[in-house]
Amino acid sequence: MVSVSSGDNVDFNTQGKIQQVTILGATGTIGTQTLDVMSQHPERFEVFALTANANVQGLFDLCVKYKPRYAVLLSASAATSLETQLKNAGVVTTVLQGESALCEVASHQDVDVVMAAIVGAAGLHPAMAAAKAGKRILLANKETLVMAGNLFMQAVTDGGATLLPIDSEHNAIFQVMPYQRSRVLADIGVKRILLTASGGPFRNASMEQLQHVTRAQALNHPNWVMGPKITIDSASMMNKGLEVIEAHWLFNASSAQIEVLVHPQSVIHSMVEYNDGSVLAQMGNPDMRTPIAYGLGYPDRLISGVSSLDLLKVGRLDFCAPDQNKFPCLRLAYEALDAGGTAPAILNASNEIAVEAFLADKIGFMDIPALIETVLSKANVEAVTSIAQLVEVDADARRAATHWLNTLACAH
Ligand SMILES: NC(=O)c1ccc[n+]([C@@H]2O[C@H](COP(=O)([O-])OP(=O)(O)OC[C@H]3O[C@@H](n4cnc5c(N)ncnc54)[C@H](OP(=O)(O)O)[C@@H]3O)[C@@H](O)[C@H]2O)c1
Repeated sequence: MVSVSSGDNVDFNTQGKIQQVTILGATGTIGTQTLDVMSQHPERFEVFALTANANVQGLFDLCVKYKPRYAVLLSASAATSLETQLKNAGVVTTVLQGESALCEVASHQDVDVVMAAIVGAAGLHPAMAAAKAGKRILLANKETLVMAGNLFMQAVTDGGATLLPIDSEHNAIFQVMPYQRSRVLADIGVKRILLTASGGPFRNASMEQLQHVTRAQALNHPNWVMGPKITIDSASMMNKGLEVIEAHWLFNASSAQIEVLVHPQSVIHSMVEYNDGSVLAQMGNPDMRTPIAYGLGYPDRLISGVSSLDLLKVGRLDFCAPDQNKFPCLRLAYEALDAGGTAPAILNASNEIAVEAFLADKIGFMDIPALIETVLSKANVEAVTSIAQLVEVDADARRAATHWLNTLACAH
């Protein structure tokens, strides 16, 4: 079940029609880069809706600039404030509020493309709504696939949606592995997927040093500019773990077929090895506008604004194996994938609580895997049956993780 589309022969030709685009998580790193790429192609794309959590100023600025038909904020008070500000500025954008409104603008009949770039589990419902409504989904929100991979992929199929991976690694794999739906990797001559990882800011840190790293150090990613949650995930290598699970669902690959390779330069975004010994890699500067442009334009190649890769300047490409002792989050993600069922959702929820606590200086860096491992070890893993069940599982895992945090706080 290689994902990326609802059918084997999907007609991607937009026949000159201007595409109406909803950007979920518009104020974030991916959201703003999507707007940057779209602005370079006004003849192809129009902004239909922009959404955020509670960032009134950020969304106001984007509404003034892009004049979407709708703006949505999760928070009711933030939406009221945005509505007033837009009215005073003479911007005719309808402001909506709440999760149902996020789903509405993701599934609206006039929308062609949905960029799913909300961070975390909060992105699940709107992404599901877009899938059920048969949209072209550019999926940045990997947490949707981690939590609900089977249900989301089923919704993509049932809704006739087109799914294009935006995570640079999965986008790279998609570029070098011809799309073959409903077939296992072995049937299309693929031996394994090599998922590259920068190794983050602590690639060379010792176990001892990792105990004492600070929030500022963890937020200082060497290659990529990203939102805070994914930046911490990159430092702990949970990001790569989540991506292993994401690759499993997108490309119908078993955990044994997905290998992580640390590649500090982040020039090769991932590779696929075929049975004949060929290894195909997708390369480029580490800039998310490349996969975003690929998703927006597919199958056309659009100008993205990304500078040319200067291999002479890069000079060398290094590789090493990830150290799962130093980065237990990667091991935990593989274990959750192998456990199956609700385990990845539990992993995801406890990780979100752990990252939040680390960002709030409540726990140390190595407490992140400790918290996740404790929650996972005590959880009752079940087969996934519905989104409602996953919402409960997510809430239970968050409660268990919060309990762990409270116990730790009392112990200090
Ligand atoms: N950044 C990258 O380079 C990159 C690369 C690959 C994949 N991704 C994935 O893309 C997603 C977005 O990452 P990012 O780095 O762009 O994150 P980000 O910069 O933190 O932006 C997150 C966006 O989601 C919104 N949001 C946060 N919580 C929300 C909630 N509860 N309900 C509705 N909206 C909410 C935020 O709104 P506010 O501004 O109001 O908070 C913001 O617009 C993540 O899943 C990440 O793993 C990112």
